[in-house]
Amino acid sequence: MRQYLSKGQKLKLQSNITRENIAILVHLFYEKAMRDEQIGEYFIIELGDNMANEEWTEHIELLVNFWATIFLDEERYKGDPYGPHFTMVGLRREDFIKWAKIFEHAANKVYVPHIAKLFKEKGDFYAQEFLQKLHLKSDLKELKSTIGWE
Ligand code: HEM
Repeated sequence: MRQYLSKGQKLKLQSNITRENIAILVHLFYEKAMRDEQIGEYFIIELGDNMANEEWTEHIELLVNFWATIFLDEERYKGDPYGPHFTMVGLRREDFIKWAKIFEHAANKVYVPHIAKLFKEKGDFYAQEFLQKLHLKSDLKELKSTIGWE
C-alpha cells in the first residue's frame, strides 16, 4: 500500500471504485491478514513472509484483477478462485469468518460507507461460497452471531 501513497499522505475515503483504489484495498487487506495470528500462516506457507517477493506480487496482481472483474467489468481474471483453497491444509470455518472480518475492516478504511458495503457483501458472499464448496457448510451469519460479531 505504501507505494500508492506518498510519505505522510493519509488515505482519503474513496467515493468511486477504480483499479488503483482496489489495489490499495488488496494491499491493506493482506498487510493485516498476513500478520493475523489465526489466518496469517496460510498465506505465509503458500506465498512467503515478504509481501515484496515475486509470489506475493503475482498474487496481489491476481486479486486486483479478481475484484476489478467483479466491480469494473474488466474481465482480466479468468482463473478458478476456489481451486487453490482445496489443497490448503487445515482451513476451517472460523478462518473464513476472520477473512471476512479483515476484508470488511480494509474496505471501511478505503471506501465511503455505501461502497465499503458493496465490498463487504461480495466478500461475505464469497466466504459463504467457499464454506460450501470446501464442504465446511455453514451459515456465515449464524456463525458470526455465535462469536458475537454482529
Ligand atoms: C481464510 C480464508 C482464506 C485463505 C487462508 C486464503 C488463502 C489464499 C492463498 C494462500 C492463495 C494463494 C494460493 C496459491 O497461489 O498457491 C489464495 C488464492 C486466492 N484466493 Fe484465497 N484465501 C481465503 C479466502 C478467500 C476468499 C473468501 C476469497 C474470495 C473473495 C479468496 C479469493 C482468492 C482468489 C481469487 C485466489 C487466486 C486463485 C487463482 O489462483 O486464480 N480467498 N487464497
